[in-house]
Amino acid sequence: MHKELAKLQSVVDKLVRDIASDGRTIRVLDAGCGSFRYVDLKQNVYTVGIDVSEKQLQKNANLNEKILGDLQTYDLPASSFDLIICWDVLEHLPNPTKALLNFKNATKKGGIVILKLPNILSIKGLLTKFTPLGFHVWMYRHVCGSQEAGKDGHGPFRTFFKFSIRPAAVKRFALENGFSIEYLSIYEGHVQNKVIDTILAILKFILQIFTLGKINPNKTDYIMVLKKQKR
Ligand SMILES: C[S@@+](CC[C@H](N)C(=O)[O-])C[C@H]1O[C@@H](n2cnc3c(N)ncnc32)[C@H](O)[C@@H]1O
Repeated sequence: MHKELAKLQSVVDKLVRDIASDGRTIRVLDAGCGSFRYVDLKQNVYTVGIDVSEKQLQKNANLNEKILGDLQTYDLPASSFDLIICWDVLEHLPNPTKALLNFKNATKKGGIVILKLPNILSIKGLLTKFTPLGFHVWMYRHVCGSQEAGKDGHGPFRTFFKFSIRPAAVKRFALENGFSIEYLSIYEGHVQNKVIDTILAILKFILQIFTLGKINPNKTDYIMVLKKQKR
């Protein structure tokens, strides 16, 4: 397991243990669920998955309930989830703040929101933002060797990557909207492809020179865990 995932897992284990201390089933929303969930939940959980892709929902075997819908506009029931997981999704939304407000409304008091996403202020983030989807598909197909890339229900998905989802902005949003920050890690994610790693290494070097070291191009991803305050 990637060490960042292991660290997150121990934070989540503790927070969820506290929520489910009376042994009840906890309600989880997997927001932009795709077909896979990275966080392991040991308690009794009832998981609702929402995604705009019917194909992704069909492939997801971890859900008790499936919603075909848009996170930004779907009317999620108020104060209905103990835990919301939004993993590699906010970068795909034209209005991520709308989704975050939806999460705020749908989280129970004392509930948890886990956000994992790429850091726009990194080489991977800037490259993803300023290149078209066609280029991402080409990279997945020809460099990563994924022949299904870009076909219906397969990534890479269209990316908007708004600056409003840089770590400092999301942190500010959380604090202004009644959440505490329980955990924040901005770290180097791994692409695990020699060609991409080499291209990124060259671009990182150039970026560091041009931004006089102000942008740390290696911090490609981040995880933030929020808790909705009870007051
Ligand atoms: C990179 S995948 C991540 C999937 C999954 N969370 C994971 O970590 O494997 C992004 C997912 O977000 C979904 N998505 C994109 N825009 C969305 C929206 N507006 N509302 C809900 N889901 C959306 C895509 O269909 C896709 O399944």
